[in-house]
Amino acid sequence: MASANLNIMIKAARKAGRSLVKDFREVENLQVSVKGAGDFVSRADREAERIIKEELRTARPNYGWIGEETGEEAGEDPTRRWIVDPLDGTTNFLHGLPHWAVSIALEHKGEIVAAVVFDAAKDEMFTAERGDGAFLNDRRIRVSGRRQMIESIFATGVPFGGRGTLPATIRDLSRLMPVTAGVRRWGAAALDLAYVACGRFDGYWERGINSWDVAAGILLVKEAGGFVEPIRSEESVIESGNIIAANAQLFEGFAEIIRSRD
Ligand code: IPD
Ligand code: CA
Repeated sequence: MASANLNIMIKAARKAGRSLVKDFREVENLQVSVKGAGDFVSRADREAERIIKEELRTARPNYGWIGEETGEEAGEDPTRRWIVDPLDGTTNFLHGLPHWAVSIALEHKGEIVAAVVFDAAKDEMFTAERGDGAFLNDRRIRVSGRRQMIESIFATGVPFGGRGTLPATIRDLSRLMPVTAGVRRWGAAALDLAYVACGRFDGYWERGINSWDVAAGILLVKEAGGFVEPIRSEESVIESGNIIAANAQLFEGFAEIIRSRD
């Protein structure tokens, strides 16, 4: 049984998802003018955040808020806040690639307690609550059972647009590619983690990611039986933005490779 808070989150994600699906169909028609498509997508993104904020704040007016588009707002209740990415995978959306999602997490006293990642284009709703397991469209999900790195697939985000984490990521890739079944860069961190949670990917890591990209996905992986840690053990994942996630059997070997120069 989903809690009242999770039901509120699911409703908000579905409503924003409907608006995004409508806008996604338009994007194809706008590809002739790149700037036109870019402006249109940022409007779609802002509208999705507006919808989610309205739903969540109407239902829980005293909770705090952090959203990719509107930033941070303290709530009367300092122990609870929503962490929201209305459109994770913006570049995919802009290019007409159907791989993007709405991500909503609820944090309580610094811990993520409820999570929703909604892939509206494929109608896949990933949900989790702390202690209650993780679900895809109401069916229980678990991380993969693979034990061998050479049979396993790992997802990541390769930094773009001149981001400083590129050399470290290239070193990661050169170490991982020879000893795994491959690396995927699909462009939506929330879905990378959701896919680890349901066993499609065996692990995920990324450097310099924002809290709203991964907050919900972290709980999905943990509740599906996987491990999530920061790259440097003394840091926090949410604050440092450096994250490693994998099934329990692969985690140690995978983390050793990613951490080897840190
Ligand atoms: C991005 C995606 C991408 C990740 C980037 C994020 P956005 O979010 O999650 O996979 O590699 O670090 O910024 O911009 O599409 O919301
Ligand atoms: Ca994002």
